[in-house]
Amino acid sequence: MGYHAIITGASAGIGASLARELSSRGYSVGLLARRAEPLEALAEELNAGGGQAAWRTADVTDREGLGEAVAELEAELGPCELMVANAGVIGLQFADTFDGGEVARIMDVNFNGVVYSIEAVLPGMLERGRGQLVAISSVAGFRGLPTWSAYSASKAAVSTFMEAMRVELGPRGIACTTVQPGFIDTDLVKGNKNPMPFLLTPEELSRRVAGAIQGRAGEFTVPWQMKGLMWLTRRLPNWLYDRVMYSSVPKSRRGPKP
Ligand SMILES: NC(=O)c1ccc[n+]([C@@H]2O[C@H](COP(=O)([O-])OP(=O)(O)OC[C@H]3O[C@@H](n4cnc5c(N)ncnc54)[C@H](OP(=O)(O)O)[C@@H]3O)[C@@H](O)[C@H]2O)c1
Repeated sequence: MGYHAIITGASAGIGASLARELSSRGYSVGLLARRAEPLEALAEELNAGGGQAAWRTADVTDREGLGEAVAELEAELGPCELMVANAGVIGLQFADTFDGGEVARIMDVNFNGVVYSIEAVLPGMLERGRGQLVAISSVAGFRGLPTWSAYSASKAAVSTFMEAMRVELGPRGIACTTVQPGFIDTDLVKGNKNPMPFLLTPEELSRRVAGAIQGRAGEFTVPWQMKGLMWLTRRLPNWLYDRVMYSSVPKSRRGPKP
């Protein structure tokens, strides 16, 4: 039986693509998401191709249900050696229609979902003294993005959380890897009207991410052009950052001038 990886959000986009990539590299893969059909189809595809895959449905915001699904996958495929907390959602927030409940929902999936995914496998990894935790964060967490405020905040939280975990868990044999992709061509960004520079396919991303996982990288920002752009963006003074970023707020959403 191969090294066992569990991937949340494996029914589509980056998660499905990473499952294919890890399977091709010899991992057995446990697939989690809410929709059964695409998970079943992906598991069949991987098993037919000589890999080893199993799937369970789970909502990452349901702490108990997620824990049960992970335990079932471990019973089937063996102890989880690699958790990829990938499930995520996006949503726009505009000042005039601001909805705190929607912000909380995005935080729940994107941040609490990562925490619960880690919680489900951490005790076993600590007992064995080895393992790897990977969270798919985003470059959107580097600075506050207007109209993506909740998404941006959730990814900043994920990256900071993972950094803290990395410091504590590394010496105990558990590597923590934070992946911060730029724009990836998946359903998540289909409705985005703003430019998406350096867009990668999920397959291109997965190849690079799998390499970073196997190298047990602490932090991996991809592509390098986006890493450079973010390095610059982080150094912009607030007055300039605000001016540049305001152009991404749709004119129809700017409200009357004071
Ligand atoms: N696309 C990008 O440009 C980009 C850039 C940087 C980071 N990311 C991050 O990469 C991750 C994957 O995004 P993607 O682009 O692959 O998006 P996607 O194609 O929309 O896929 C999202 C995945 O998350 C799952 N999911 C959503 N809510 C869930 C929940 N409550 N419980 C369990 N699973 C849930 C979905 O499955 P079900 O609907 O079946 O549950 C689906 O498998 C996200 O964390 C995203 O923030 C994406």
